[in-house]
Amino acid sequence: MATSKGKNETVTLIDNVTGKKVELPLMTGTIGPKVIDIRRLYGETGYFTYDPGYTATGSTESKITYIDGDKGVLLHRGYAIEDLAEKSDFMEVCYLLLKGELPTKEQKEKFERDITRHTMVHEQLNFFFRGFRRDAHPMAIMCGVVGALSAFYHDSTDINDPRQRMIASYRLIAKMPTIAAMAYKYSIGQPFMYPRNDLNYAENFLYMMFGVPCETYKVNPVLADAMDKIFILHADHEQNASTSTVRLAGSTGANPFACIAAGIASLWGPAHGGANEAVLKMLGEIGDVKNIKPFLERVKKKDGTMLMGFGHRVYKNYDPRAKVMQKSCHEVLKALKVKNEPLLDLALELEHIALNDDYFVSRKLYPNVDFYSGIILKAMGFPTSMFTVLFAVARTVGWICQWNELIEDKEQKIGRPRQLYTGADKRKFVAIGSRK
Ligand code: CMC
Repeated sequence: MATSKGKNETVTLIDNVTGKKVELPLMTGTIGPKVIDIRRLYGETGYFTYDPGYTATGSTESKITYIDGDKGVLLHRGYAIEDLAEKSDFMEVCYLLLKGELPTKEQKEKFERDITRHTMVHEQLNFFFRGFRRDAHPMAIMCGVVGALSAFYHDSTDINDPRQRMIASYRLIAKMPTIAAMAYKYSIGQPFMYPRNDLNYAENFLYMMFGVPCETYKVNPVLADAMDKIFILHADHEQNASTSTVRLAGSTGANPFACIAAGIASLWGPAHGGANEAVLKMLGEIGDVKNIKPFLERVKKKDGTMLMGFGHRVYKNYDPRAKVMQKSCHEVLKALKVKNEPLLDLALELEHIALNDDYFVSRKLYPNVDFYSGIILKAMGFPTSMFTVLFAVARTVGWICQWNELIEDKEQKIGRPRQLYTGADKRKFVAIGSRK
């Protein structure tokens, strides 16, 4: 492969079999690696590219989020995640992701009012919950109920109308906490709590989760602040599995509610959003500091045991979100006057041992956002089954922004990867009586 420097940079591929040369354009972003534009490759060579898991494939151009995995950098619209988590709040981050700029005071107030006006769900939607078993996993309920929103909000499913797209976006951001809290309330047999529009996004979510109609619910400001930070830290993360699922579904022209339901399904897996639930399960199984080393031996033997909350496709350094999460974890435990949280002690020791073990060091495996989030969420009173649901609530803004960007991108087509076929060659059909 040879590159020629200059404004119109190209890469030349030389086919060693035929000797044919193909010149492909190089694309340059604002920051980050250059990208070889291979759109002409099949037409000119008859070859596809092979990249299972898309480890070296850029599926889109995007202006929303940038990650430098080697340096542990995460930027939303150019702003560092540490600054956003420390100096801003979730509504501001939602506005930034959706509109590209931080809001002025007036813009923020209007945005909050608009989101708040959409927090209730259609009353008929309540009946959907009754169809689920009480012990249903809340992510199963989320997949079903969020998909069902498209049956309720027909006036915001025309993807070609920018106004309808924005209304659908607001509806999704506003209604996700309501639906998530309903899924929880249903599972414990308590009445649904209607949203309270005098509370902010995080406070209202805690109220709908933990309030009951027979008592006044007092929001703990430290917990509301931690909830808000958790939402910020999970708001968007570039072209991850669930976001790519949303984009792929969106590329067919499917409505936004259906696309977000597809994203929720994709997020559920333990390699992705389900990892926070898996971390707590793992810590519970390890049980004691003395069991860490034998546990890590099993991981290193690759008997199928993974150190959950460690490793990332893009980060080959500390996940910047994990650092913020670790700090927030200490604050929450202090506010709740939890003096000895054995799970946190266990997690800290596990992290320490792993970060000094050659297996993890040589593979650049560091704690990711999920390593500490479960401990905070547990301390806040969330059952483990709700952890991934919270991730989905927070990530909805990212999904919907990426979906909007896709719809507005004139270069996007229906997503349709190709394959390296290794099955049977064409053969003659054999009648059933003649088969051996
Ligand atoms: N525990 C033990 N070994 C690991 C781990 C881990 N958590 N993660 C990666 N490895 C090993 C892997 O076996 C491979 O070893 P080798 O080179 O000997 O074959 C090497 O590290 C490289 O890993 P990979 O499988 O090529 O990495 P990937 O980019 O395909 O996978 C990942 C990334 C996040 C799926 C994986 O690290 C993982 O399963 N981690 C645990 C689950 C987890 O915490 N997921 C949350 C991700 S962050 C939140 C989110 O985005 O949803």
